[in-house]
Amino acid sequence: MSNSQARTRSLPPEGGGLQEALKARAEAVTGLLDRLLPPAAGPRGTVVEAMRYAALGGGKRLRPFLVCETARLFDVPGEQALRAGAALEMVHCYSLIHDDLPAMDDSDLRHGKPTAHLAFDEAIAILAGDGLLTEAFTVLSDPRTHEKAEVRCDLVARLAAAAGAAGMVGGQMIDISPQRGSLDLAGISELQSLKTGALIRFACEAGAILGEAGAGERQALVAYAEDLGLAFQIADDLLDEESTPEALGKPTGQDADLGKATFVGQLGVEKAREKARELVHSACARLDLFGQKSDLLRQAADFVVSRRS
Ligand code: IPE
Ligand code: IPE
Ligand code: MG
Ligand code: MG
Ligand code: MG
Repeated sequence: MSNSQARTRSLPPEGGGLQEALKARAEAVTGLLDRLLPPAAGPRGTVVEAMRYAALGGGKRLRPFLVCETARLFDVPGEQALRAGAALEMVHCYSLIHDDLPAMDDSDLRHGKPTAHLAFDEAIAILAGDGLLTEAFTVLSDPRTHEKAEVRCDLVARLAAAAGAAGMVGGQMIDISPQRGSLDLAGISELQSLKTGALIRFACEAGAILGEAGAGERQALVAYAEDLGLAFQIADDLLDEESTPEALGKPTGQDADLGKATFVGQLGVEKAREKARELVHSACARLDLFGQKSDLLRQAADFVVSRRS
C-alpha cells in the first residue's frame, strides 16, 4: 500500500465536537475488541467470557480516543490507531478487574454491573485479567498494527513499561502500601503518575510512535499526557468524594474509607479542583505546536476534569 493510500484511510476528523467524536471512537473500539476476543468453546470458554464481560461492558474508552487523536496528528491510518487503542484498553480493563478484587479495593460495582469476581469468581477474574494483559501484546505485535517491526517493537516495549512495576503496577503497589499514609504532595503525585498516568502517557505516545514522529513532537505529547493523567486522577478522586454509585457506575466514598492517599484528601475538594484546572491549562499549552489539528485533544483535557462519570 502506498503512503498516500494509507493516508486516505486515516480516520477523518469528527465534525460534531468532542462528545460525538468520543462516541464514534468508543463504538469503533468496542467493535474491534469484540472481534479480537471471540467467544471460545469448551471449558476454556469461561475465561474468555469473563474477558469479554470486562472489556465489552462499558467505559469511556478515553485511552483509545487519545491514541486515535494523537495518531491523527501524523495521518496514521485509522485501523492501526484503533488496534493500538484496543490493545491499551485491554490492559486498562485488566487493571480494573484486578483493582476491584477483594484483595485490592474490594469493589462490587463496575460500569453499573457486578464486578468480574462477583459475576464469575475470584480465580476466573484473576485469569481474565491475565488473559487481557497478555492478549494486548498479541495485538500490538501483529503486522496489521504497523508494517514496520521496529515500530511494533517500540509499542510493545513502551506498553510493557507503562503497565509494569515502573508504571501502573508500581503505582498500585504504592496505593496499597502502609507508607501511603505519610506521603506528601510530591509522593502523591508520583503515585498518581504511575498508577494512572503511565497508561495515559502511553496512549499519547502511541500516536507519536505509530506516526514515526520527531523527538520534539513526541516529547510535547508526553508532556501533555503527564499533565492530563494527573488531572484525570484528581477528577476520579473528586468523583469518589462527591458523586454517587448510580451516576458513576462504581462505588463512591472508597478512598476515604480505605485511607487512600489523594490530592483531595491532602488539599481538600476546592484546592484539588483548582489544581486539576491548572493542569488542564498546562496540558493544552503543550499542544501549541500542533495548532488547530489538536483541538479535540484540548477539548478532551477540559472533559477530563468536567466529566460526571
Ligand atoms: C478508572 O479509569 C480508573 C482510573 C485509572 C482512575 P476510567 O474512568 O477511564 O475508567 P472507564 O473505563 O471509563 O470506566
Ligand atoms: C485505580 O485507581 C487505577 C488503576 C490502575 C486501575 P482507582 O482505584 O481510584 O480506580 P477506580 O476509582 O476504582 O476506578
Ligand atoms: Mg484502586
Ligand atoms: Mg478502585
Ligand atoms: Mg477512584
